[in-house]
Amino acid sequence: MKIEELFTVEGYGVVVTGGASGLGLAFGEALAENGASVTLLDVDADALETEVARLTAEGYEVRGEVVDVTDHDALDAAFEAAVRTSGRLDVAFANAGIDPGPGFVGAWAGADRPRNEEGAIERYTDERWNRVIDINLNGVFATIRAATRHMRPQRSGRIIVTTSLAAIKSEAVIGAAYMAAKAGCAHLTRNVALELAAYGITVNAIAPGFFVTNIGGGHAKDPAQQAAIAKEIPMHRVGFPDDIKGLALFLASPASAYVTGQQIVIDGGWGLGIAD
Ligand SMILES: NC(=O)c1ccc[n+]([C@@H]2O[C@H](COP(=O)([O-])OP(=O)(O)OC[C@H]3O[C@@H](n4cnc5c(N)ncnc54)[C@H](O)[C@@H]3O)[C@@H](O)[C@H]2O)c1
Repeated sequence: MKIEELFTVEGYGVVVTGGASGLGLAFGEALAENGASVTLLDVDADALETEVARLTAEGYEVRGEVVDVTDHDALDAAFEAAVRTSGRLDVAFANAGIDPGPGFVGAWAGADRPRNEEGAIERYTDERWNRVIDINLNGVFATIRAATRHMRPQRSGRIIVTTSLAAIKSEAVIGAAYMAAKAGCAHLTRNVALELAAYGITVNAIAPGFFVTNIGGGHAKDPAQQAAIAKEIPMHRVGFPDDIKGLALFLASPASAYVTGQQIVIDGGWGLGIAD
């Protein structure tokens, strides 16, 4: 295969959950900008309408559907509809996720990291635990299942799960349910990759560090917070959605055909430790 064909996704059918904002939107853009037919699924109808209108006006083949990943029947139906429209399903991004709420420490960075009683494990409510697990773990399972129902018969496909650095290392600022959900997604990725390898389907995960998106009401957009965290990141800056597009294209395209069951960290070196 010629090098220019390695990264081609021209004509691919793509579905992205949580596709109206942040990293999911970047995944959808990266694939649409390279000729794919993209369906963005999201609970946020307004953001979906805005982003689909913008990308369509720019000449890309993008559509949106309001779907909550906790509604597994609606998710299955949305995959059916996307396959009917695009004619095929080549790539599915299991990406939708929510902020976990506070962890047991109340500040990301700096010398003063007070304990946060609201995030203490013994005060963690069932309601909070179940909501994060329902979206960030069960929603990923349901997305993988919906995608596989189309990919296994066609004996090809790419499933890409958004996990987190939180799937690999503990973090005091992040709520416990998020850690469990993301670690669960990482291991689910490996096991489904094992199951589906014989059918030409690869399953991999992208584990982002700190990216400026709308997660948690957009707290990552606060410049003071970005500056504090950037000090702890060896590359001395936080990530932006454009930073993740190349990795998404790699995992979706023929370039990664022999890669499966992997979790690729993209974090400016944050997980390595503090350098300066
Ligand atoms: N931003 C970061 O620093 C970071 C780091 C590691 C992992 N992640 C993960 O990246 C993924 C995307 O998050 P983001 O940072 O782009 O946040 P974001 O809030 O900008 O985007 C998430 C999107 O998911 C949608 N969504 C939320 N609940 C949903 C549901 N039940 N059904 C369908 N859609 C739903 C939201 O409406 C939103 O459009 C998440 O899984 C998140 O855990 C983010």
